[in-house]
Order: sequence, then C-alpha cells, then structure tokens
Amino acid sequence: MSSHTQRLDRYLFARLGIARHDSKLLLAQGRIRVNDAEATGADQQVDQFSRVMVDGTALPFVSPVYLKLHKPVGVLSATRDALHTTVIDLLEHPVRESLHLVGRLDRGSSGLVLLTNDGRWSRALMAPEAGVKKIYEVRVEKPLTQGMVDAFAEGMYFEYENILTQPALLEILENTLARVTLVEGRYHQIKRMFGRFRNPVLALHRLQIGMVSLPGDLLPGHSCPLSANEVSGSTHASLRAGREAAGRKES
Ligand code: URA
Repeated sequence: MSSHTQRLDRYLFARLGIARHDSKLLLAQGRIRVNDAEATGADQQVDQFSRVMVDGTALPFVSPVYLKLHKPVGVLSATRDALHTTVIDLLEHPVRESLHLVGRLDRGSSGLVLLTNDGRWSRALMAPEAGVKKIYEVRVEKPLTQGMVDAFAEGMYFEYENILTQPALLEILENTLARVTLVEGRYHQIKRMFGRFRNPVLALHRLQIGMVSLPGDLLPGHSCPLSANEVSGSTHASLRAGREAAGRKES
C-alpha cells in the first residue's frame, strides 16, 4: 500500500467533499485536528495514517504496521503464491493482506524479513542511496579464504546487471562459516559472489536489516512488532545516509 501524502484541504475534499473555501473556514475556527493537535493550515501534509477530526468526529484512518518475521527455509518472500507457503501465510495479524515486504530473502534462506503497510517507510529503507546494511550468517561448502574477503571488499562485476557490487564485508567466523554485510540486495547476491569461487552456499540466514535485528528468541515462522525506536530510527538513519550519498555525488 502506498502512503501518499497530500494537502489537508485536498484530503478533506476527497474524503468529505468539503470545498476549499469551507475547509479554510473550518480551519480558521479551529474545528479541524490532525493527530491530536489543531490543524496548522490548508497546506498541512496528511496521509492515510493521519488521524483527522472534523468537529470532534474522527475520519477513518489506517494504523501503520511494522513487523519483523523469522522466515523459515522453504517459505516464499511473496505476498501470494499458488504453490508455496508465503510469509503472509505465516502471519496472524488482522491486516496481514495489506502488508508488503521490505526486500526479499530467497526461498532457501532463513531469517529476518520486514513487513509493513507504510510504503514511504519501506521505500526509504530500501532506496539504494540509503545503503542500509543487511547482515547474514552464511555456511559454505569449502574453506573461506582471504582472497574471498578481498574480492567481496573490492566488489564483483555482475555481467547480467552490468554493475560492480558495492564493497561488502566478509568476516570469517569459522573454517566454513562467515558473516557477510551487504549495503544492497542484488538477486541471489551472496550465492553468486561465493559462486565465483565455486564455493556453494549451504545455508544463509539474515540477522539484521539496518538497526533492526532478529531477536534470538523469535522462533522460525513467528513475528513481532518493531519497537517505536526501530521504526523511527530506521528511516532517520536511511534518510541521513541518502542525504550524505547525495552530498558526496555533488562534491
Ligand atoms: N543473497 C542471496 O544469495 N540470497 C539471499 O536470500 C540474500 C542474499
């Protein structure tokens, strides 16, 4: 679902048919409230999540939902599928059908998946320039080497997309166990990167997206809401990163 922002007077016209000059009058008389405060003016920006009241009567609004799910292996990162269980099928949330995924995880991978009905939030988090870090634990078939660490850090050329991957951090935890940090999400990216070394990925588990971690006690198939800090911190961090990236491009 998109979270389209619009002027308060346009919103009042669309929702209640109140003409512009009438909304001006209502505003001047202090008869309109937005999110429990008196409306500031006709050009105040509102969206589907805004709680607008006219003369004490609340207009229906949508509650924003932000969930983290522990995706088990075998479940599809999609909202609907005729063949496979999807992440939405795992949720018991009353508005689960209105949620969308914030980035995907392969069917064979497990771990953290974020779901929301707030399109602005998910777009901010997934914008390439935001460079939000995604952290994975990866089990590979053959021993990890310094050559792999260096290649991940340098970036790899992906012919299909004609891009050089962003520098990625490969930390060797055990002989065949690594932690990988990416700032982007190319199709099958980690598998393709290890594929260059003919080192198949045996298991891939996402631990973190930006400042949101998978809680150790959240069992596979289970979900829980994000905290208010995780919601606001994620967008602030990604918007800041986006601004910094734009600043670097300009200079
Ligand atoms: N890289 C992959 O190859 N698969 C995932 O699911 C995520 C990152």
